[in-house]
Amino acid sequence: MSRHGFVPPPYPYDRLIPVREVAARHEGGAIDLSIGTPCDDPPPAVVEALCSSGSERGYPPSIGTAALRGAAARWLHTRFGVELAESRVAACVGTKELVVGLPHWLRLRDPSRDTVLYPSVSYPSYAMGAELAGCRAVPVPVDEHWRIDLSAIADDDARRALCLWVNSPANPTGAVDDLVAAAAWGRARGIPVLSDECYAEFTWSGDAVGELGLPGRTILEAGPDGVLAVHSLSKRSNLAGVRVGFYAGDAALVEYLSEVRKHSGLMVPGPAQAAAVAALGDQDHVVAQRERYRSRLERLRSLFGAMGLDAPMPEGGFYLWIAAPGGDAWALTERLAAELGVVVSPGEFYGPASTGHVRVAVVQPDDRIELIIRRAG
Ligand SMILES: Cc1ncc(COP(=O)(O)O)c(C=O)c1O
Repeated sequence: MSRHGFVPPPYPYDRLIPVREVAARHEGGAIDLSIGTPCDDPPPAVVEALCSSGSERGYPPSIGTAALRGAAARWLHTRFGVELAESRVAACVGTKELVVGLPHWLRLRDPSRDTVLYPSVSYPSYAMGAELAGCRAVPVPVDEHWRIDLSAIADDDARRALCLWVNSPANPTGAVDDLVAAAAWGRARGIPVLSDECYAEFTWSGDAVGELGLPGRTILEAGPDGVLAVHSLSKRSNLAGVRVGFYAGDAALVEYLSEVRKHSGLMVPGPAQAAAVAALGDQDHVVAQRERYRSRLERLRSLFGAMGLDAPMPEGGFYLWIAAPGGDAWALTERLAAELGVVVSPGEFYGPASTGHVRVAVVQPDDRIELIIRRAG
């Protein structure tokens, strides 16, 4: 039978199976630094909240419990100084489903537009969401610092745009972007700017925004109108397995999306919402997690540096973004598997503009990082 419809492409990380087999030949097995999945424990009080909410029986509110929406609004205030009404906050089942679902829902709302703009070196789900919605996925070039170059967006693409995605600190490059400028660009054209901020807690270039000369660590610092900030508990609080995040910002967008999502049956399980409330109320575990990532980044950076690779400290996030010798990322991926038993991601997973780099996620426990250093001798 011939197929004419959509055929899903191979899932990027499935393409690493042969690399994983090579890495696994090392004593102690493969050390997987390819997927950005947290490995450290969430705080015990968060696990306790997950187990003791008593919210298993009934359906949870799709938009999020009052407790979760309030906790998110308070966290935005304490962490970023942003004042936002709880009515402008809504829950999502982890942020990947929201990222992928948004183009479809935005297109239903405005069928005269068909284009999703996103950084050319980025998390692949921005493009996949466009594709699954039957939209045009139009990458926006990034500059030499991996920051989105808004001046490169063609007028016609802007006229057709349903949204612009920005991601700061960025996966995979770690770049910290000017979110205030992105908000202004969108407002001037009536295009919603969707700001994926799941690495916002992990910034390394001095927490002082001024030092980078870049205003804004959440787009909400530029005000909520015409923008959405998208936040996840997955990275901040090591809760990727619990599936909870939230989006916040423009009142009409939050209202529209929360209604569509309610009709779609998208609900964060009650116990997961309770866990998120506990997690958002605590900053100490984030401080400890920051130090773990910072130390792993520094240790692996010096190891790769000693191998002659250029592995700069990222401005944010928990990935090293390493230029491959000769621009051959697959060759470097295979070399690291053979020499060190580690699995990393070749840059092409993050778009055709990324083929000369590899991404290394520092998401293995410290004893495994130690083992990599021992293997390097
Ligand atoms: C940039 C970015 N956005 C969103 C996500 C999705 O995270 P989650 O669905 O766990 O909230 C990830 C996960 O790796 C990511 O790197």
